[in-house]
This record gives sequence, structure tokens and C-alpha cells, in this order.
Amino acid sequence: MTASREHFSSRLGFILAAAGSAVGIGNLVGFPVNAAKNGGGAFLLMYALFVFFICLPVMIAEMAVGRKTQKEPVGAYKDLSGGSKFWGAAGFLGVLTPFMIAVFYMVLTVWLFGYIALTVSGQLDFLASSEGFGMFINSPYLFVAMAVVAGIINYILVAGVKDGIERAAKVLMPALLVMLIIMVVFVLSLDNAFAGVKFFIIPDFSKITPSVINGALSQAFFSLSLGMGILITYGSYINRKTDITNSAKLVAITDTGVAFTAGLMILPAVFSFNPEVNPQELSDSSVSLIFTFLPKIFLALQTSIGYLGASVVATFFFTLVFFAAITSLVSILEVPVSYLVTEKCHSRKKALTVLLMTAGVLAVFATLSFGMVAFFTEFTSYAGGNRSFFDVVYDIFYDTILPLNGFLLCVFVSYRWKKQQLTKELSVGNDNYAGSWVEKYVNFSLGTFVPVIVFFIFINTVITKFWGINLFGV
Ligand code: PFF
Repeated sequence: MTASREHFSSRLGFILAAAGSAVGIGNLVGFPVNAAKNGGGAFLLMYALFVFFICLPVMIAEMAVGRKTQKEPVGAYKDLSGGSKFWGAAGFLGVLTPFMIAVFYMVLTVWLFGYIALTVSGQLDFLASSEGFGMFINSPYLFVAMAVVAGIINYILVAGVKDGIERAAKVLMPALLVMLIIMVVFVLSLDNAFAGVKFFIIPDFSKITPSVINGALSQAFFSLSLGMGILITYGSYINRKTDITNSAKLVAITDTGVAFTAGLMILPAVFSFNPEVNPQELSDSSVSLIFTFLPKIFLALQTSIGYLGASVVATFFFTLVFFAAITSLVSILEVPVSYLVTEKCHSRKKALTVLLMTAGVLAVFATLSFGMVAFFTEFTSYAGGNRSFFDVVYDIFYDTILPLNGFLLCVFVSYRWKKQQLTKELSVGNDNYAGSWVEKYVNFSLGTFVPVIVFFIFINTVITKFWGINLFGV
């Protein structure tokens, strides 16, 4: 155990930081549209059940492994397995995955920053035009924006756990929640807004197909930042007075609550823009929704609130999503930072410089994948289509390896570290844990159906993504 390891100063600080990681681009845009398309209230109900009965035990286990070892995934797996090579490799995957996810997430965060700059400078009409996005993603100014985003991340992370991560979360998370509520109130006051609310909430159980179930489960898993090593690393910064199970519940409730509230912002906005819209026609991708569809909605507001008003609303929205992205990016980069500091004995400053430079170079390659350079744009091909460098990083690390990491964690905790040890760790800070129904449920689920389900998602993703075969035939 490293004697000098920094800790979050309070339980609230930890919860806000972990919720800051969990609340990301997916919550704010991807979730609402998915829900509206796939059964409204029926989807919401199923999603909430998945969060609490399948994902929460994994979240609790990740935090417990981190706090017990006071280490990031590599050190944690090594310590608890008595130095096993296999589990060391699993831990390494738990550090490589977040690093690579940070690469593609950085590109999106840079775009958000660019959108804020353009809406502030009165260019909402350009962003809403049909050629706007295409020109934007090929602009050389993106590299300036990337340097600014890297500077912000460095500024937060170099200050450490308490003065960096925790302080940023304590400012950005409440700001995000207040902005979200202001946006919801504003959007609900628009004409036809309630048609969107209806689509979002009224249940339609006929839409719940096996493929929708699989999608909801993957979404819940990703949304809680599982399988990325983040909660192991943040867990290593929790003090021994904190009740992990209750804290994890609060993180899950916040994440789900934000996703639900975002639905009350996005769908009414879509319906007020076009009351005839069929949610089925909305794109599945959060990226195209945020960057190409929403600017059009904001611009349409100019008929009621003028161009300036519409630009203010757009800036407000992109800033909200930017805050969510920054706290997620900070959390994911902290994993390799912590690895270099704990396992390789680098100073925080040096670790950050090395990581931001390497991630920065890869993020430049990913930025060049949208037409600027043919080599990165047509990087490879699989499942019958060309894939850019950006697509490959996304498909391999975000879509595929995450569930595999989740599976390995469940097996590790249940069969290598052992459930009694998990119970012992979770009893620290919660005297009533041992013997409770929560303990029984966590131990049973992690050792049985949770790894089976998560492994199935992994296999399904591999054959769908890389071989182009959909198990569900939909
Ligand atoms: N829960 C995050 C989200 O919904 O966007 C997942 C995440 C993605 C966290 C990327 C961190 C990150 F860098």
C-alpha cells in the first residue's frame, strides 16, 4: 500500500467525481433517443432494472477492489491474485482500454469545444447548414481546440485527486445539473413539447425485442463507466469510512436520473422542431444527433427568440454536454496516470505529459480520419465496410473490450479474490453489510448470471461488429 496515496476528502466528493465520470455524452443524447425509439416507458423500466440488478453489483465490486488494494487495475489484479501473470494481463487490459477510449472521446470533446466557440461567435447558422459539419470536422482549427482541451485536462489532473478531480467535479457537476434543469424548463415551454414527452414516457411493450434488450443492457453498462478501470482507480481514493454500497447506489441513481431528465430536454425539442417527426427516423448515433441534428433545432428557435437567443440556447446546451464530457475524460485518463505513478514510479506531472502527448498524437490521427487523410479515413475494412482509424478505436475498445473487462472482473472477484474477501471489504464503512440481503445478492449475481450475461454481450458484439452477423436477426 502506498502510504502517501491521496484520497477524496469526503463521500460527497467521491460520489460527485464518480457521477461525473458516469454522466457523459451517452446520457444526454444517446439514452433519450434510444428510449423513445424502443418502447418509451417500457425501455426506461427495463433500463432501470438492468442498472440496479445487473450493473450495480459490478460497480460495487470495482470500487471494492480499488479500495482494498489502493491501486489501479494492474496493481490491483496483481496484488489480489498473488502476482498471477494472467490476471496481471487482465489488469493491463483494464488500463489500455481507458487510454484508447480517451483517444476517441477526446475527439468528441474537442468538437464540443469547437461548437461552443462557433455558437458564441455567432456562427450557429453555419453549423446548422448542410455542409457545416463536414467542413467543421476537417478544419485545421480543431488542432488548436485540441491543445486547449488537453490544457484543461492537464490543469485538472495535475492538481491531483482532491484539488483536481474532486474540485472540478464539485464545480462542474452542480453546474451541469442546474443547466440541465434550466434547459428542460425552457424546452417544455415550447410548442408541441408534450408530444415528445409522450413518446419518451408512454410504454410500448411491443417494441421490446431481444436486440433492444441487448442494446439497453450494453447502454446501462457503458453509462455507469464499468469495465474501464475508472471505478477501480477512483475506488482506491475512497477512505475507509465510506460505505461503498450506498455510494455506488447514489452514483447509479444520479446517472440514471440525469439520463431520464435529458429525455425531457431532447425529445420535446425534437418534437417542437417538427411535430410530425417519427422517432424511428432519428439516428442511432449520438454523434450525428448532437453535431448535425441539434444545431438545426437550435437555429429554428430564431423565429421565436431571435438569432441571438437561439445562439445563446445552443451555446448553453453545448457547454452542458462539454462539462459532462470533461468530467468523463478526466476520470478515464486518471486510470493510466495512476498506473504510471503507482506502478512505474513517475511523478504525476511527468505521467500526464507522457500520456497527453501519446493520446494527443493518436487523437490527431483520429481527427484526420474524417476525410483529411485517406490513410486514416480508409484505415481498414471489416463486416463489409470501410473503417476509419476513429471507427477501429471505437469498435475495438469502447464496444467490444468493455464487456470483456466486465466479465473478467466478475470472475476475478468471485473465483480468485473470493466472495468472503469482497464481503469483508464492503463491511468496512458499513457494519450491517455482512449477512444483509444486499450482500447475498451481490455475491450470488457476481458469481453466476452477471458474468454470463456480460460475456454474451461481448460475443454478440464481436460477431455483429466484425463479422456482420446479428444473432437476433433484426
Ligand atoms: N459513462 C460515460 C458516458 O456515458 O459517456 C462513459 C465514458 C465514456 C466515460 C468515455 C469516460 C469516457 F472517457
